[in-house]
Amino acid sequence: MTIGVLVVGGAGYIGSHVVHDLVAAGHRVTVFDDLSTGARDNVPDGARLVRGDMRRAEDLDAVLAEQPEVVFHFAARKAAGESMQVPHDYAAHNIAGTLNLLECMHRAGVTRFVFSSSAAVYGSPAYLPIDESHPTNPENYYGYTKLAIEQNLAWFARLSGLSYASLRYFNATGYDLAGRVTVRECGAANLCPVVMEVASGLRESLDVFGGDYDTRDGTCVRDYVHVNDLAAAHVAAMERLLDGDSCLVLNLGSESGSTVLEMIAAASRVIGREIPYRVVERRAGDPASLVASSAKAREILGFSPRHGDLDVIFESMRGVYGL
Ligand SMILES: NC(=O)c1ccc[n+]([C@@H]2O[C@H](COP(=O)([O-])OP(=O)(O)OC[C@H]3O[C@@H](n4cnc5c(N)ncnc54)[C@H](O)[C@@H]3O)[C@@H](O)[C@H]2O)c1
Repeated sequence: MTIGVLVVGGAGYIGSHVVHDLVAAGHRVTVFDDLSTGARDNVPDGARLVRGDMRRAEDLDAVLAEQPEVVFHFAARKAAGESMQVPHDYAAHNIAGTLNLLECMHRAGVTRFVFSSSAAVYGSPAYLPIDESHPTNPENYYGYTKLAIEQNLAWFARLSGLSYASLRYFNATGYDLAGRVTVRECGAANLCPVVMEVASGLRESLDVFGGDYDTRDGTCVRDYVHVNDLAAAHVAAMERLLDGDSCLVLNLGSESGSTVLEMIAAASRVIGREIPYRVVERRAGDPASLVASSAKAREILGFSPRHGDLDVIFESMRGVYGL
């Protein structure tokens, strides 16, 4: 069945991968994006790009008047560290912008919503792997903005008939294995893109924050999930909503953890040369290990990450970084 979908923030890193899959599945896709961190070239020929700001109702009303069956929402500020410096900016985009989008959807009678949440809603783990029942206690303002929206979604589902899937990503990584996405992530602060930027000479140095954690090599353990696996989960979440599900809150992670040094070693192996780094002081608020349980997504979405192998992840990034 072909449906109309609206992808807010669809010109960005994760959104563009989802847009490619939606177009490939034959859907009518409108990307709504202000191109602040996204790129026109990320939008495939089969989708339409409408430039606008989700904080402005008049920008959104026109695209919502087309009555998309499902709205995907990727647009956000996403750097945890930065969110502690400029919380008002994060409030304006991630909270006020999203509430504006939800209000415009409500006015237009559009009821299905797939939201990009984050493992940052959990804060320091009380136990591992982290499942969806784990307490939510964000340690940075970014994580709080995601939790605030999740709480509003639960209310709107009860009070105004919204159906939603909130997908809590762990560390999204890699690039499209079919090579359809060719634009580098803008202003990336995550480990994998930073490693590749150093390898390709776009960045001078690679700092490893803390070498004395209680982990197998002293560096932090994180759960890296390939962006193609994430994209497949979004399409599955959309299908669940179309089938009548609502209020889905699901982790999306690979369920395995890799240390920072293992990631750097994998990148070096794939590229065929050493990537220099230096171990510096720990950063505040970085837990030793974060690993997801994705059992719920496996059960509800049939989520089964297929591209978690570290060599596959870095291999998929080479082209985009000219390596
Ligand atoms: N990258 C990760 O590892 C990760 C992990 C957890 C959650 N997330 C969440 O996933 C979502 C997508 O992340 P990404 O890595 O693709 O980020 P991104 O910055 O590449 O994409 C965000 C897109 O939203 C657009 N945008 C931003 N503000 C807008 C506005 N006011 N109006 C319209 N468009 C706007 C940007 O131009 C960009 O195209 C975000 O909500 C992020 O918080 C990402």
